[in-house]
Amino acid sequence: MEIMISTDFFSGQISGDAVRTTRTVADLALHWTNREQYEIQKGKILYETESWFPHPDGTEGAVLWASTKIFPGKVGDQHFMTRGHWHLKPTHGELIIVASGTGELVLKSRDGTITKVALAPGVTFHINGDLAHRTINTGTDPLIFWCAWPADCGHDYSDPSLIGEWK
Ligand SMILES: [Fe+2]
Repeated sequence: MEIMISTDFFSGQISGDAVRTTRTVADLALHWTNREQYEIQKGKILYETESWFPHPDGTEGAVLWASTKIFPGKVGDQHFMTRGHWHLKPTHGELIIVASGTGELVLKSRDGTITKVALAPGVTFHINGDLAHRTINTGTDPLIFWCAWPADCGHDYSDPSLIGEWK
């Protein structure tokens, strides 16, 4: 088992063997309404994640955790945001803690009801496992936050109802 050495809360950095990923505007291609602006901005970095997997994804009872940094920006009138997903196990929720920046946590129920939670430094929130969730940077600085979730929650990014803006 790998041992996490340390994290830097405010920058979102995890030392050691964190898994680092970068998403560009093009990775969320179908989510942007303004296609002209999309073509101009599709190469921009949208967000970066650093994830810590003390056990493999899917391990029952394990807790995984990651930081996400969403850069400020817009495609047309849509702010930079994460893809959003469902957990396959509705009892398996997620914790979010905001380190810096401002934005919104957007929650979507199976009946389409949208709930928005304002994000600012120090905000903590428990996301119920039966709600789809995505985060949006509505500010002018990077939005940096931490999430922890059960490794066996399962992720569904493919539901067509999650494509585009949630409103
Ligand atoms: Fe999640």
